[in-house]
Amino acid sequence: MSAKHALLLSSALLLSASALAASPDPDARADALVREMSRAEKLQLVFGYFSTDMQDRNYKHPEGGMTGAAGYVPGIVRLQIPAQSETDAGIGVATQRIPHPRERTALPSGLATTATWNPDLAFAGGAMIGDEARRSGFNVQLAGGVNLMREPRNGRNFEYGGEDPLLAGTMVGNEIKGIQSNHIVSTVKHFAFNDQETSRSKVDVKIDEVSARQSDLLAFELAIETGDPGSVMCSYNRVNGLHACENELLLTQVLKKDWGFKGYVMSDWGGVHSTEAAANNGLDQESGWPFDRSAYFKDALEESLLDGHVSAARLDDMTHRILRAMLANGLFENPVADLSSTIDYAAHAKVSQADEEEAIVLLKNQDALPLAQGAKTIAIIGGHADKAVLSGGGSAQVYPIGGNPVANEGPNGFPGPMIWDPSSPLSALQSRTQAKITYNDGTNLQEAAQLAAQSDIAIVFATQWTGESIDAPDLNLPNSQDTLIEAIATANPKTVVVLETGGPVLMPWLDKAAAVLEAWYPGSAGGEAIARVLSGEVNPSGHLPATFPASIAQLPRAIVDGDIKDLAEHPRVDYTVEGAAIGYKWQDKKGTKPLFPFGYGLSYSSFALSNLTTVQEGKGIRVSLTLRNSGAIDGSGLAQFYVAPSAGGWEAPKRLAAFKKVPLKAGESQTVSLTVDPRLLATWDSKAHGWKIKGGEYKVMAGNSAEDIVATATVHVAEATLGASGR
Ligand code: BGC
Repeated sequence: MSAKHALLLSSALLLSASALAASPDPDARADALVREMSRAEKLQLVFGYFSTDMQDRNYKHPEGGMTGAAGYVPGIVRLQIPAQSETDAGIGVATQRIPHPRERTALPSGLATTATWNPDLAFAGGAMIGDEARRSGFNVQLAGGVNLMREPRNGRNFEYGGEDPLLAGTMVGNEIKGIQSNHIVSTVKHFAFNDQETSRSKVDVKIDEVSARQSDLLAFELAIETGDPGSVMCSYNRVNGLHACENELLLTQVLKKDWGFKGYVMSDWGGVHSTEAAANNGLDQESGWPFDRSAYFKDALEESLLDGHVSAARLDDMTHRILRAMLANGLFENPVADLSSTIDYAAHAKVSQADEEEAIVLLKNQDALPLAQGAKTIAIIGGHADKAVLSGGGSAQVYPIGGNPVANEGPNGFPGPMIWDPSSPLSALQSRTQAKITYNDGTNLQEAAQLAAQSDIAIVFATQWTGESIDAPDLNLPNSQDTLIEAIATANPKTVVVLETGGPVLMPWLDKAAAVLEAWYPGSAGGEAIARVLSGEVNPSGHLPATFPASIAQLPRAIVDGDIKDLAEHPRVDYTVEGAAIGYKWQDKKGTKPLFPFGYGLSYSSFALSNLTTVQEGKGIRVSLTLRNSGAIDGSGLAQFYVAPSAGGWEAPKRLAAFKKVPLKAGESQTVSLTVDPRLLATWDSKAHGWKIKGGEYKVMAGNSAEDIVATATVHVAEATLGASGR
């Protein structure tokens, strides 16, 4: 051995855990820590507690955890391993059931953020809520919901990123990146196929591998690549017979082996059903005790280790993954504390408002918007628009700063009560118009219609409250609001409808309304954002991240499957019906015409596209077009590219391949040139265990929505294999 080698070896041997603490390599640091830890210490890290007292269960959360929070994993002082303090969710810092909730800034719903088609806004929103999480004393944020919208009635659609894997994965991935820019860990969730709330802990989802890889799994894969979350939260449901949190195929094969995920898998609260199957098949941390029936990863795990049913190496791997995620995100060097008095709420409201302003989708406009300057009287009807805007219920619920201005609506228990963000569209509009605004709450149809008839313009605010654990019964606006809108629009042809909904709704009154805005759940400054769009201060630029079907009959299933009123143990939900043909892909495949298609959204300006070109680049393709603001006012256009093999043969006639939102001054043009991920040209080949691109001619389509394609170009793509990671 040379002197140089001897020196290197001896210095390697001297490399103690503390020396490694300075190493930037999170794997090396995690390994060094694992080597120092006792079995009891490792077991401590893989078991998480609910951080909220539950009188009904006589449960008191452990000391050290933030009160009224989702989770807590005690730290290990001896090794300076910080505690993990966990908060929901993707819309902001939520509070669990306590009498004095944490009041924080709410972003618009996740679906709204996706409707911006602007990844920078998703990042900014994530960075903002991550800052509030950190300053609230949390270092793990249970955000990053990316379950695809197979089911427009899903009660949690508002938390997610819509129906397309590329769009959802990109937007949610950017939110995760923003959250983690605060040196905290974010999750991505709920892995996987937790695409409905009906019987969510009981349903067994049936899905074939090809459809799975080309739909929900692709959304997760892209979100993980983009956001690099420290953790993945496995879901409540079963997938092909096995609980998601003990599903070897999902957790070990797909996530950890194929995608090379280096972080840890945490369970959803109450999602664990075993010790050995869960540990051996890939779950790294049990969350939210006492939601599970048994403390599977506590004494029972120790016993399994002693019996050899779970190996010591597996416990080391679990521990390593948790520590690695904490180290990679700087949790050790950047300890959290409750500094909530330093949160800049005014600045954060602006972040939320900017998000909502680009999220609002103008669905229809017959010369009604922006509101005419000359209007003398405006009737505002319904939706508590005099006080607030609606938010979605459940664990993602953010309690508004200043409290809930509309009490006693919605169920008392989870996912209620209904919470309204105190941002009044009426007040915000009044400060922007000379017109006299009169409010009517819409409960008396005749009075409301009379007010509308006497006003120059009528604006109806219609709401649909949705929440975790329950799906919407149908796609109609609840509480006879369709009848109300019909009556108002009949009384006044200049009726504008503003929708605050969790997701798509039917609009039986559409022909009568002069204009329709989809404002989603608008967030902390939603009233301001809506008023700015109505008044024309902001030119709307949101586009639908999900199809609005024309009827329930257009969906793959008439009712949400898996209702267990019949008490079936494991109701089946058959996702092979639509497979990977979700949303617009299903509509395309069936040749049906939705009410409003995916990608659709109007502007007060107009945009023209030209020069669509495409060439092969690497294994994928490059696509380009010129987008011009052909109208008279500044605004943002959306370049949306779709792709399909000319010979067909995919799950659907086309897929979204690339997109970019482009701010353009009136008359301005810009060339947009984007790379298409080769996976979007490929199909999953189960035999080869990887993605395969069939050689041949491909069509690239560009247009104003998935339905309105205005230009097509073709390109010859060479056959290629991409491997399981797609790279
Ligand atoms: C939800 C998760 C959430 C967890 C903790 C569960 O009910 O499904 O999304 O993070 O609770 O509150």
